[in-house]
Amino acid sequence: MTSASFDFAPLLPAGLPQPAARWTGLAKYSFVGGNNDPEQVPLDGLIDAVNAVLKREGRTLATYGLASGPQGYGPLREFLTAKLKRDAGIACAADDILIVSGSLQALDLVNQTLLARGDTVIVEQETYQGSLNRLTRLGVNAVGIPLDHEGMRMDALASALADLKARGIRPKYIYTIPTVQNPTGTIMPEARRSELLRLSAEYGVPIFEDDCYADLIWDGKRPPAIHAMAKHGGVIHIGSFSKSIAPALRVGFIVAPWEMLSRMLALKTDAGSGALEQMVLAEYCAPHFTSHVPALTKALRRKLDVLMEALNEHFGTSAEFEDNKGGIFLWVKLPDNVDTLKLYQAALAAGVSINPGPEWSTDKAYSKSRLRLCFASPSVEQIREGVAVLAEVCRREFGVPLRSANVEKRA
Ligand SMILES: Cc1ncc(COP(=O)(O)O)c(C=O)c1O
Repeated sequence: MTSASFDFAPLLPAGLPQPAARWTGLAKYSFVGGNNDPEQVPLDGLIDAVNAVLKREGRTLATYGLASGPQGYGPLREFLTAKLKRDAGIACAADDILIVSGSLQALDLVNQTLLARGDTVIVEQETYQGSLNRLTRLGVNAVGIPLDHEGMRMDALASALADLKARGIRPKYIYTIPTVQNPTGTIMPEARRSELLRLSAEYGVPIFEDDCYADLIWDGKRPPAIHAMAKHGGVIHIGSFSKSIAPALRVGFIVAPWEMLSRMLALKTDAGSGALEQMVLAEYCAPHFTSHVPALTKALRRKLDVLMEALNEHFGTSAEFEDNKGGIFLWVKLPDNVDTLKLYQAALAAGVSINPGPEWSTDKAYSKSRLRLCFASPSVEQIREGVAVLAEVCRREFGVPLRSANVEKRA
């Protein structure tokens, strides 16, 4: 059945976002999105967990919010309380946590609580596209702070805060992805986190800490969360099971003072996030999370090695990147004449999807010849073949790399 004859257009209110495009499937070689490694989804454990939890307490599904209330399934919040203390140093109670439908919903709830059109926020110059798009849609001014190999640069943050203050502007928050930054992969050391907190206190600007990659560090060692180090209570911390277990489950969480959590709860009008996912995660994670994560990171590390080898082989010195300490992305710099927005189009036509840098940055000129590659979801073979195709397309379109697979190419 089609709805071709009925015209909805005159009924649409002003200010709607652009319509979504229909999904046309993943590219043959897909290096986009925050997808995970299908081989590493702990299927057997999840199957056992779903059976056990449904047999034991499946009838609670008859009640909105199970028997746990609107903040989410109690045992999952208990698991998070222990995990956040152990791994991130965060001392919080289950009642300080709100379970949400992926950390994307956390971004929406924090934004809805704090932001109005015309507001200003501070972000890392290179940052998560989903966060940038939300700010654009809300009409919020995002001031980008450059990064170095330790994350957001504090000298640049200090001058941006001073400059904004001189103009009478108090930013609503400082948004950071401090632990395996997206897209650059940096980890902010403890000393810099302290400096960030000092500036936050000095200027009265809260910190919005997005920690969704914090479990994916090769050696398992992470600095304490900014939330854990804060003495002023002005940190909103969000996390997710998307990167450690599976993104399609859509389970994330917010840790925040009740003053903020109660506001977000009032805005979360969906009568609770999916209950079965929360039950299964709690049942699986309590006994298995700590053994699952090292297996996952080992597989991801191997794929990063394959990606870096393939880039070295096919792009040679034309591709510059850091050997990241964790995560699922590599942020790559190509020669200055490469425009990755154009490369994206040409590569897609050849079956390779990439994330062009300008979509992940507030500085379109700086990011013009940069791109983000997700190495978690393609197979090892797809990584090798996909990078070879990408190099061919790049050479055809931009004349670089001159050499590919150690064979000199004639223009
Ligand atoms: C920095 C960051 N925050 C939030 C998200 C959203 O994740 P999810 O809604 O799946 O938890 C992503 C996804 O890639 C991300 O990279």
